Amino acid sequence: MKIFLIGFMGSGKTTLGRKLAARMGCEFIDLDHKLEQQVELSIAEYFSIFGEDAFRTLESEVLKKTIYPDNVIISTGGGLPCYFDNMEWMNANGKVIYIKLSPKTLADRLETGKEERPLLQDKHGDDLVAFIEQKLAEREGFYSQANIIADGLSLTAERLEQILGAE
Ligand code: S3P
Repeated sequence: MKIFLIGFMGSGKTTLGRKLAARMGCEFIDLDHKLEQQVELSIAEYFSIFGEDAFRTLESEVLKKTIYPDNVIISTGGGLPCYFDNMEWMNANGKVIYIKLSPKTLADRLETGKEERPLLQDKHGDDLVAFIEQKLAEREGFYSQANIIADGLSLTAERLEQILGAE
């Protein structure tokens, strides 16, 4: 089974995905990392050279052209479900889990580690919360098309495995 983890930046997709894959004994793929390897640039560098539109086109290509093992956990970039037909494609090709968190919790988590996230680089404090609230409102309609919506607060890989087992 292919399991796609989606959600806003800072929701824990990569950390939880890696742990879940270890528990389930399957491979883990981080699509942001795959894209960075392909272009030999960090996402921040790619954004600043080519801009966001080019990034969105490329991330959709990486999603659809990657050859996946049969059983794999895939973490996706926070914006990926919201462009082109990426959400539809993931739903048609695997199981999609949305890791949901409030803007305030996300802002607390994102206050550090913003350098590698081009959309957040110049935002702090209340500005950061307001930005996340607005983006999340725009994105929620895409994220909520996931097969499974998991409360991201104190979510563990063990709990995710239980949720999947109960499906
Ligand atoms: C983005 C999220 C990032 C990365 C890029 C854009 C977004 O991934 O793809 O900086 O638009 O939310 P993470 O969610 O893994 O930080």
